Amino acid sequence: MAIHSLCRIISKLGIMSRNQAEKIILEGKVCVNDKKITKPKFRVDIVKDKLSIDNKTVSSKKKIYYLLNKPEKVVTTRFDPEKRKTVYDFVKVDSWIFPVGRLDYDTSGLLIMTNDSRLAEHITNPSSAIWKTYIAKVKGKVNDNLVKRLEQGVNLNEGKTLYAKIKLISSADNSTRISISIHEGKNRQIKRMFQSLGIKVLSLKRIAIGNIQDDFLKPGQYRELTSKELKMLEQ
Ligand code: URA
Repeated sequence: MAIHSLCRIISKLGIMSRNQAEKIILEGKVCVNDKKITKPKFRVDIVKDKLSIDNKTVSSKKKIYYLLNKPEKVVTTRFDPEKRKTVYDFVKVDSWIFPVGRLDYDTSGLLIMTNDSRLAEHITNPSSAIWKTYIAKVKGKVNDNLVKRLEQGVNLNEGKTLYAKIKLISSADNSTRISISIHEGKNRQIKRMFQSLGIKVLSLKRIAIGNIQDDFLKPGQYRELTSKELKMLEQ
């Protein structure tokens, strides 16, 4: 990647889609060498030119990695038309970072934020087999037959889900707690997997990304990934 249109460079960096990039350029949120540029086709050399969005430098050189414990009622985007709280209200750093994958507004738990689009692609690509583990509280009792069906894959609009690892944790008050690990990231995948079997998810929390876990990170807190954690993710 060297000289391309501003719009293409922003989308290639893995920050946002081309349409979103075009929108924020037109809105005057993007500067090249500290000068506001409102033309999506403006030519930029990503090596030589300094790019910033919303006054934050977008760097493709120094890679940074954070782990956020996303609270519920927070969106995983920067620009929310409904002006709800976003993950950027919690992770306040000078460089431009983006979330690796997405947690729904009402889902809590671990979310990696980085400026490294290569690692982000590796983590989200199903062939990397980086398992993401969630604890789901669902309505009603879940029997072994349903567990088997979830494990073996259920049909969603886009096709059948890949093998999932399921463990029943506990049952009480007409609800069941289940651990579910998947290594793909279809939109609202877990809720739709349960929904396809007529089961309603009452709450959802991501507790692990690969081997990365952190029981001490409180909702809303974040920290840098350690080099050991990064190595585990890169494998
Ligand atoms: N699956 C879902 O349904 N929602 C999330 O936020 C993550 C995975």
